[in-house]
Amino acid sequence: MAAKFIKVDPFDLVVFGGTGDLAYRKLYPALLHRDKSDQFTDPTRIVGVSRRPLAREAFQASVRDALTRFNGSEAVSPDVVERFLNRLDYVAVDASGDAGWADLKALLGPEDRTRAYYMATGPDLFGPIATRLGAAGLATPRSRIIVEKPIGKDGKSADAINDAIGSVFLEKNIFRIDHYLGKETVQNLMALRFANALFEPLWNSAHIDHVQITVAETLGVGGRGAYYDNSGAIRDMVQNHMLQLLCLVAMEPPSSLQADALRDEKLKVLKSLSPIDDSNVSALTVRGQYRAGFAEGAAVPGYLQDIEQETSDTETFVALKLAVANWRWAGVPFYLRTGKRLPQRVSEIVIGFRRVPHAIFETGADGIPANRLVIRVQPDEGIKLWLMIKEPGPGGMRLQHVPLDMSFAKTFATPTPEAYERLLMDALRGNAALFMRRDEVEAAWKFIDPIREAWAHLGESPRPYAAGNWGPAAAIALIERDGRTWNEEYE
Ligand SMILES: NC(=O)c1ccc[n+]([C@@H]2O[C@H](COP(=O)([O-])OP(=O)(O)OC[C@H]3O[C@@H](n4cnc5c(N)ncnc54)[C@H](OP(=O)(O)O)[C@@H]3O)[C@@H](O)[C@H]2O)c1
Repeated sequence: MAAKFIKVDPFDLVVFGGTGDLAYRKLYPALLHRDKSDQFTDPTRIVGVSRRPLAREAFQASVRDALTRFNGSEAVSPDVVERFLNRLDYVAVDASGDAGWADLKALLGPEDRTRAYYMATGPDLFGPIATRLGAAGLATPRSRIIVEKPIGKDGKSADAINDAIGSVFLEKNIFRIDHYLGKETVQNLMALRFANALFEPLWNSAHIDHVQITVAETLGVGGRGAYYDNSGAIRDMVQNHMLQLLCLVAMEPPSSLQADALRDEKLKVLKSLSPIDDSNVSALTVRGQYRAGFAEGAAVPGYLQDIEQETSDTETFVALKLAVANWRWAGVPFYLRTGKRLPQRVSEIVIGFRRVPHAIFETGADGIPANRLVIRVQPDEGIKLWLMIKEPGPGGMRLQHVPLDMSFAKTFATPTPEAYERLLMDALRGNAALFMRRDEVEAAWKFIDPIREAWAHLGESPRPYAAGNWGPAAAIALIERDGRTWNEEYE
């Protein structure tokens, strides 16, 4: 089937934090690509908002510069770039003061098309911006708000943000972005499960031995040290992206792709997670922090040097063993790990099937390896199903473990769109299926908060690991003491 782009009705997208890193690096390039595909309908405007005074032309020039730097490899003709830049406008507004709101209101005029406000500022401004939008009469029952992570740093602060936004915008108009859900392979996980009759009958504890989810980065904290030191791996990665991936693996088939049908099923998974607290945190979690080592082909400093502090108990790595306590997943462990300064940049989900019950072939002491389904989220998106086959040639029945390998880049000629392209268009269309509902955010924090509290009660520092390793040895032990191994076959 050829790719088909469906036009989006005219819109005004107002980007708060419109001169920030996220906007320049991700949002404008994503919007340019959608414009290039002729998805926008005139009149459509994108309005950058931040405190600094900036003429419209200067703002357009700054976006032009960003598009050159962050466009990626996809060629875009100068005409398309010009058309896109002409859609841009800029207003200086202080989100935490009174300046600029009247100018924004005057520029926007009557709400005669879809209007969406994108919160690309720090989360402390989400609430104040919503409140001021309400006070200025700029938020109507039709207007939408798109909110970036992190939504709070615990359940309580998330509630405060959600309350502030929710008192101005209707829940159906609040789009909480988890950009992992916009990734092609993540949506492919749904296609794999629910558009094929093959896997779903096997998708349960009778046939699946365990599930692994890895989100590994080679980078350190870089310039985000101050933010990261107040966050840590569990809040930065697990509370949102990894639990969302887990939900898509573990949820029951929704009755439709309608937003609430999907989100109801994800919510049930989050509510089924067996709690981790003081009683079991040592057995089920491992925290780590990177030290100096070797990563990305060079010697690199440790975390404390990166954040220029003498001490910190913030984890840059975490591994967890989770249980989804329901009929389908009883007894199937879900192993999650994420970290910085790991040997490879990779995000993937591994479904480890059970071994064959009886071996009729001669095998070594380890027996016949179990089938594995590896869903690669990034980079090199694709799906591999590891199967046993007979090694070709004479010499008896020798078996070999080989992958049925589908690389999306090799299979499809069209480049994989960036997650933000899909998510921005969905929000502008009003399709909330790939966005988190408030109760999902709450349930995720309800699971994460007791883990962090239990770590605090333990009073232990994260375990050190040298940059360029797969976290502390205890993370390997977490899975190996169950007789399993992390998937480490990377090309
Ligand atoms: N960067 C990423 O790749 C990324 C990825 C995922 C999530 N996020 C999240 O996205 C948000 C933005 O991150 P970022 O990296 O883009 O931050 P950033 O580069 O520091 O940008 C912050 C933006 O907010 C504006 N701003 C700050 N205070 C303001 C105020 N009082 N009123 C109006 N505008 C104000 C800044 O412009 P002025 O200083 O001129 O006001 C700037 O445009 C954060 O919540 C971050 O966690 C970022």
